[in-house]
Amino acid sequence: MISLPLLLLLILFPFSTTTTTSASSVAYPTIPGTTVTSASASQTENLTPIRREVYGGGKILDITHRFTNDLPAWDGEDANLGQFLWLPLSMKNGSIANFSKLKLPMHSGTHVDAPGHVFDHYFDAGFDVDTLDLEVLNGPGLLVDVPRDSNITAEVMKSLHIPRGVRRVLFRTLNTDRRLMFQNKFDKSYVGFTRDGAKWLVDNTDIKLVGIDYLSVASWTDLIPSHLEFLESREIILVEALKLDGIQPGIYSIHCLPLRLLGAEGSPIRCILIK
Ligand SMILES: *[C@@H]1O[C@H](CO)[C@@H](O)[C@H](O)[C@H]1NC(C)=O
Ligand SMILES: *[C@@H]1O[C@H](CO)[C@@H](O)[C@H](O)[C@H]1NC(C)=O
Ligand SMILES: *[C@@H]1O[C@H](CO)[C@@H](O)[C@H](O)[C@H]1NC(C)=O
Repeated sequence: MISLPLLLLLILFPFSTTTTTSASSVAYPTIPGTTVTSASASQTENLTPIRREVYGGGKILDITHRFTNDLPAWDGEDANLGQFLWLPLSMKNGSIANFSKLKLPMHSGTHVDAPGHVFDHYFDAGFDVDTLDLEVLNGPGLLVDVPRDSNITAEVMKSLHIPRGVRRVLFRTLNTDRRLMFQNKFDKSYVGFTRDGAKWLVDNTDIKLVGIDYLSVASWTDLIPSHLEFLESREIILVEALKLDGIQPGIYSIHCLPLRLLGAEGSPIRCILIK
């Protein structure tokens, strides 16, 4: 005889009756679907999810890095993200559903910087990621290749001849060739904007969305000065650690959506290009 509460559970969560209840020694870091365990391989041959970089037959390109424990992290030298996801309620422990929790530094993986990141008075005034202009974060823009032998200086910016009127530019650099976002430790020798490069962009272009392919738009030696140049006007939005591998330079429709985190000076962001 089935009790009423149990009957309700079976109606609400019918899937719980069909799952195996074998005990697992660790809830995470194994991310479901990223590895095929021997147990599930035999039972669930058609239950392997497809993980894509491209959708719609090549029309939609995902330029966001997948969050994994191995992502290099913004933590000085040799750091990676480590565990950021936990499963405090697990069906394997007898819970009625799986229920994960996330603890994530806001400037990890593909993310956006708000003005409060480097200006304390902007932070106090509330210029957080919730105040970022979605119109800047969504619209036509350019993917450009930057000369590989230099950081992004004023000279380099000049040489790119980005026309006035272009408001969104994703800068692909040596970082992509070196696959720095696929290394499992932070590398300070990445390419970014020098202070004069940032200043040149601010003074001589209409660019309001600056995207780059490593964890900072600013080169390590000009870390704070470059951020200050970009963020002072509060008109420019910085998107960092984009995944720009294997994409043709050119014009795309760029779409980036940060989380609405009240009071946060940064946020993970999902960015796609549409052809
Ligand atoms: C579920 O079991 C795993 C593995 O023993 C453990 O790490 C986790 O803390 C448990 N969660 C709960 C809610 O008991
Ligand atoms: C989460 O729930 C699914 C069923 O939806 C189950 O197969 C899986 O083992 C659960 N994962 C964990 C870690 O308990
Ligand atoms: C860019 O600058 C960093 C220091 O911030 C340096 O380590 C790196 O070698 C430079 N890269 C190039 C290509 O000049």
